[in-house]
Amino acid sequence: MLRDAYNRTIRDLRISLTDRCNFRCFYCLPHGEPSWAYKEKLLTLEELAFVCEVFVSLGITKIRLTGGEPLIRRDVDVLVEKLSRLKPDLADIALTTNGYDFVRQSEALWSAGLDRVTFSIDSLRPDRFQEITGVDALGRVLDSIDVAKRLGFAPVKVNAVVVRGRNDDELVDFARFARENDVSFRFIEFMPLDSGHEWNRDMVVAGREVHDAINEVFPLQLKEASRGSSTAWNYTFVDSAPGEIGIITPVTNQFCGACSRIRLTADGQIRTCLFSAAEYDLRGVVRSGASREEIADFIRAAVMKKEPGHRINDPAFVQPERTMSFIGG
Ligand code: GTP
Ligand code: 5AD
Ligand code: SF4
Repeated sequence: MLRDAYNRTIRDLRISLTDRCNFRCFYCLPHGEPSWAYKEKLLTLEELAFVCEVFVSLGITKIRLTGGEPLIRRDVDVLVEKLSRLKPDLADIALTTNGYDFVRQSEALWSAGLDRVTFSIDSLRPDRFQEITGVDALGRVLDSIDVAKRLGFAPVKVNAVVVRGRNDDELVDFARFARENDVSFRFIEFMPLDSGHEWNRDMVVAGREVHDAINEVFPLQLKEASRGSSTAWNYTFVDSAPGEIGIITPVTNQFCGACSRIRLTADGQIRTCLFSAAEYDLRGVVRSGASREEIADFIRAAVMKKEPGHRINDPAFVQPERTMSFIGG
């Protein structure tokens, strides 16, 4: 079992498959990848499958593939198929995607054994969607959600990063969408992980405000008394309508105390926190021909360095150099 210095058990591995993305969301990668973005340093699918096997032998039960946009990488279904062989020890294989190219790859991913998908929709207005992401693709993402539901992925989740003055007038529309489409719609506080360094506190819409705005129109009921190690507080609708609401409050009510997550960047570095200042070069260890046991020791040692939590709210907080697209959403 992977346990850190604060007695948290690490069960959840999030892997950024690529730092590249075909969208330009202003809260993530507004100017695109830096010119030094590296391809040759990406872990190959074989290397990824191998390290995942070691992670699972150490007690990881959940793997989320993310990015950048993971589906930009070729053969993600082949990786999923390899990961599926680690079931049932590996209980859950999930994907976070912007949904642009999901329809084309959906059946292969489903057959390969992918369990769950999370999409992003930051506006339900086509013109605003384009303003936020740089791409006129709301229709494609909505099609992706339909296809995911039809294939049987459950639950289908949708993320929106809520930003003051950009989409905070759509909260009730998002909730209505959750009800009409039977999805879990999750509202995320904007974190200082944008490559444009435009984040400031005034742009953060607190989860409490999101809850209250929706609750006024569609009364909400907290689903579980505790969120465990999950990022979201989940709510159902009091009138028993389908769908759910999730509220993710990394800024106003941080959830680090129960964190079960560790991350692998696109270039094979272990990050113990979204906001880590240090990284551990797993790629180097794997490519040096280390044995399985040596790799396991390296992972255990990195986990022991996991920070107690982020310090976004410290006056001395410094934004990490790497953005969400490298670290993995
Ligand atoms: P499941 O519980 O597996 O469905 O996923 P999740 O709750 O981890 O959700 P998802 O992967 O969709 O993450 C939602 C968002 O929460 C991410 O896009 C990040 O913005 C934020 N998030 C995820 N993990 C962390 C974390 O460890 N720390 C912080 N501060 N934010 C996180
Ligand atoms: N703050 C909060 N969430 C972010 N994401 C990306 N950048 C940020 C940020 N600055 C999340 C979004 C997206 C996922 C891939 O990463 O939820 O859906
Ligand atoms: Fe975990 Fe770091 Fe996120 Fe806190 S900020 S929940 S410690 S990854």
